[in-house]
Amino acid sequence: MDFENRVAVVTGAGSGIGRGLALEAGERGMDVAVVDVDAEKVAGTLQELQQRGTAATGHVVNVADAAAVEALAEAVYEAHGDVHVLFNNAGVHLDGLSWRYSNKQWKWLVDIDLMGVVHGVNAFLPRMLNRGNDGIIANTASIAGLMSFEYSACYCAAKHAVVGFTETLHLELEAARSRVKVALICPGAVATAIAKPPTALTPPAPSGDCAAPDPRVEEFRSSFAAVIEGGMPADEHAKLVFDEIARGAFWIISDPTYVTMIEERLRSIKDRRAPVYSSAG
Ligand SMILES: NC(=O)c1ccc[n+]([C@@H]2O[C@H](COP(=O)([O-])OP(=O)(O)OC[C@H]3O[C@@H](n4cnc5c(N)ncnc54)[C@H](O)[C@@H]3O)[C@@H](O)[C@H]2O)c1
Repeated sequence: MDFENRVAVVTGAGSGIGRGLALEAGERGMDVAVVDVDAEKVAGTLQELQQRGTAATGHVVNVADAAAVEALAEAVYEAHGDVHVLFNNAGVHLDGLSWRYSNKQWKWLVDIDLMGVVHGVNAFLPRMLNRGNDGIIANTASIAGLMSFEYSACYCAAKHAVVGFTETLHLELEAARSRVKVALICPGAVATAIAKPPTALTPPAPSGDCAAPDPRVEEFRSSFAAVIEGGMPADEHAKLVFDEIARGAFWIISDPTYVTMIEERLRSIKDRRAPVYSSAG
């Protein structure tokens, strides 16, 4: 698809992968709506875009709040007149042992990582379809949506759900012969702030039994942080994503190493073998 003189909306655009996508959208001649729950980060990305001459607006929105995302769609159409590319990218990670996350922790993460994507689709897709333009909705899942790794149960569950939701959405839009297409971004490690505590949100504190520290989780936390720190630069990732969208890709997987691991997962399913992964990614 052509990007020049069109409009991109990016959630989680204040940092990391979303910031990279917002800046790359600007590089490709798009107007950009910068969306994040963190007002300071919205201002940072917005300023960078405007300094580069991109027409951009900033929106402080929590994607977990369906009404706020609906109001966002209103505001973006009002300000930009149209939307052609929507990146449902905002997300958080929460480590822990599968059986020790509290219900509040589960709900907090699922509301952002899964429902944030659903809210974006519900608010923007009907408007995009009504316009009849070509367009793309690109949902950010993760490699953790295609295979599972330890001490991240809520994250892996929510990201697998984003994959299932996005594949279904694609099938239904194809059946409807829609001009709006779907892409599924499954990054490997990208150097961002995902392993650090969120700056504008307070995750629910673990309670009761969940609160006791666990050495395995502590060890995972530092190895996860190291993997993320050594990941692909977010600007490089953003270029790859735009190139893949331009060639009409559905699966956008930044790191081929993980494709080998996904193949191993498929083989283990075929052979009825239990998973044996043991790495953060
Ligand atoms: N970094 C990686 O290696 C990696 C790998 C796979 C998938 N991802 C996914 O990429 C996406 C972006 O993460 P990132 O790595 O750039 O992390 P990041 O922490 O650098 O950026 C995430 C941004 O999203 C914002 N955000 C968080 N919750 C929000 C909410 N409820 N509403 C609006 N904004 C919110 C944060 O304020 C932050 O600016 C996430 O969905 C993440 O799960 C990242």
